[in-house]
Amino acid sequence: MEKQDDIVIVSAVRTPFSRFDSAMADIASIDLAVMVMKEVIRRVSVKAEEVNEINYGCCVMAEMALETDIPARQASLLAGFPPEILSVTLDRACCSSMTALRMGYRAIKAGDAGVCMAVGSENMPRTPHLAPGLRKGIRLGHIKLVDNLFELGYGAKGFSPVAVDAGEVALEFGVTREMQDEWAVRSQERYAEAFAEGKLKIGEELMPVMIAQRKGDPIVIERDESPRKTTLEALAKLKPIYGSPTVTAGNAPPLSAGAGAILYMTRKEAQEKGLNPLATILTSIGTATKPRDIAVIPALTIEQALQRVGMTVDQMDIIEINEAFAAMPLVSTKILAGNDEKKWKTLQEKTNVNGGAIAIGHPVGASAARITMHLAYELKRRGGGYGVASICGGLAQGEAVILKVE
Ligand SMILES: CC(C)(COP(=O)(O)OP(=O)(O)OC[C@H]1O[C@@H](n2cnc3c(N)ncnc32)[C@H](O)[C@@H]1OP(=O)(O)O)[C@@H](O)C(=O)NCCC(=O)NCCS
Repeated sequence: MEKQDDIVIVSAVRTPFSRFDSAMADIASIDLAVMVMKEVIRRVSVKAEEVNEINYGCCVMAEMALETDIPARQASLLAGFPPEILSVTLDRACCSSMTALRMGYRAIKAGDAGVCMAVGSENMPRTPHLAPGLRKGIRLGHIKLVDNLFELGYGAKGFSPVAVDAGEVALEFGVTREMQDEWAVRSQERYAEAFAEGKLKIGEELMPVMIAQRKGDPIVIERDESPRKTTLEALAKLKPIYGSPTVTAGNAPPLSAGAGAILYMTRKEAQEKGLNPLATILTSIGTATKPRDIAVIPALTIEQALQRVGMTVDQMDIIEINEAFAAMPLVSTKILAGNDEKKWKTLQEKTNVNGGAIAIGHPVGASAARITMHLAYELKRRGGGYGVASICGGLAQGEAVILKVE
């Protein structure tokens, strides 16, 4: 039953996700954020001063360091939001933009804010190499450059690369390399089908990115740049990465740039503004478990989210589980199926129905916003229903949202 204090999404948009060597990869992540922040309010004619709180998720701090601190504050001001608007930058690895959504969700529930915006932005290819120690000078010897992007930096403090944990845990769950490669092929095929059906056209979840050129027309990026045709045979030939037993460049997502923004408020507020809700957020939940269980955490988070709203996974029409690697949707749907092979297949069938990060790309801080809005738009295309989106983040943190679309 609809309630006036329901929290509803009224607008959601993202940029295409870039290839590593794209022109988009030269745009600072805060500038990508500015684009989606402007567009998400423009589409529904909400004025910048009507937004009370902006929560901004990101992950690769070394890239943001190029523009120094507080990307949320800088992007808010650059996007034309009044200086009085509260904003915060947060890093919960790949969970970040869903955590940003949860913070606003809480603020609205607590009566601290009426209209909130969740932003996620990342530009992984732009991550600079770092030269630690140079400030004090190198008296003698070689200058060392550190690449935070390599293995996403987890090794520096003795943690395993996520690809190792995901691959090892997948094998323990009986999810083989071949299964992961099959999922990767499916991700590419599903994306290609969805694209051909016009599900990824500009104006729905996607907005174009225009890159001005010194001479001539701007470069216009209107589609995700990483999807590619592939075969199981081609994937089988790829060598595992970062010491993982199963994860390869083919069953992992590429390193991408991209941004997304979601605007949400109470149903009452939306009605007063004459806005049609895209989706109702039934719950927004964060979890964490032991660091190695990164492939398991989406399942645990989905279970907790379902428990909170008193529903079962069978009642979900579709599911989004971020393809941090193919291992995540496979292991997590297996857990959700309770080791029932038939149910596992059914859950897989309704998971990432239009492909996932393996095809689309994974600009880590922005991906949670992408799967949330994609879930909403896909439910809308199907005439409504329930869906859950969940994402894992470095060292096994989780986020999930359950959406209802009328
Ligand atoms: C895997 C990774 C290291 C690959 O980086 P890269 O080497 O720049 O990627 P490339 O696109 O050049 O792919 C490497 C090779 O695999 C091949 N390849 C990649 N995807 C393929 C596919 N679907 N089918 C066939 N071949 C494929 C490429 O053609 C390339 O082959 P080549 O070396 O003969 O040219 C990088 O994308 C990565 O780190 N991804 C994981 C990101 C991550 O951890 N995200 C966070 C999760 S929590």
